[in-house]
Amino acid sequence: MQKKSLIPRLIVHGGAWNIPAAYHAAHLAGVRAAVEQTYPQLLDGCSALDAVETAVKVLEADPTFDAGRGAFLNAIGEVELDAIIMDGRTLGFGAVAALQNILHPVSVARQVMEQTEHNLLVGTGALDFARRAGFTELPPEDLLTERELAFFRQVQNDPAFRTHHPFRDGPGDTVGAVALDRDGNLAVATSTGGTARKLPGRVGDCPIVGAGAYADNERGAVSATGWGESIMKVLLSKTVCDAFAAEDAMAAAQQGIDILARKVKGLGGVIGINAEGEYAWAHNTPYMAMAYAEGEGAVNASIRPDAK
Ligand code: GLY
Repeated sequence: MQKKSLIPRLIVHGGAWNIPAAYHAAHLAGVRAAVEQTYPQLLDGCSALDAVETAVKVLEADPTFDAGRGAFLNAIGEVELDAIIMDGRTLGFGAVAALQNILHPVSVARQVMEQTEHNLLVGTGALDFARRAGFTELPPEDLLTERELAFFRQVQNDPAFRTHHPFRDGPGDTVGAVALDRDGNLAVATSTGGTARKLPGRVGDCPIVGAGAYADNERGAVSATGWGESIMKVLLSKTVCDAFAAEDAMAAAQQGIDILARKVKGLGGVIGINAEGEYAWAHNTPYMAMAYAEGEGAVNASIRPDAK
């Protein structure tokens, strides 16, 4: 029999990277807003799936973050977006990659999950699907910010620049949300503009199931952020979900980050909720922006420094 009327949980992140002090206020406000706008709906009985989509849409619309509006530019100055949403009841998921001109890739990912026989659509195929599903296609400049244009010009021709540098020194703000609803169901969504100056067509961890996100009612749900090329090698979100079986929630998150660092010298962070409704987070980047609902409503928002 299904568990009923649990206290719902919601945790979000706004990226794990070397967030400069000048950006802290905007990051705090952004992650706080995502929880404040979404958690009351969970209290009213909305599903975990609806909650993670809503929370990630708030973050995609906020130009502070590298997702939706405000995303990094690729090597030819274009925005290409990746997103995933996963339902812990069924292990069903939908994802899009290298999608252009759409503000809310997380919602396209949900339509992929619910309206197609497929799990992942990419590039022009994903855009064609989004158009047919009724999403508004925006002019490319609508997703572009002055901040990212300036950063693109700074790194465009720098031979020393590497994909993973931003996770120490520059912007790198994948967003994600994990929720547990009153019926005991878990869901996760993650959305990103990927990495700065990535090759056109590059796909990171975010839309790869088990890497950027994973949800299984029997274990828990996790969203990852950070250097995608490292995260996908260790399937970070699934690794943490598996660790939920044997560890308490925080220890499982730390175990995932330790594996990321030890096996592939990776950089990143995770947020999650285990099947018992306990929050989890860990990161090895200088900072991670995150927020969660405490008790039945107070929002705890923070820019967490690396514990080491
Ligand atoms: N974690 C975002 C990316 O590497 O694409």
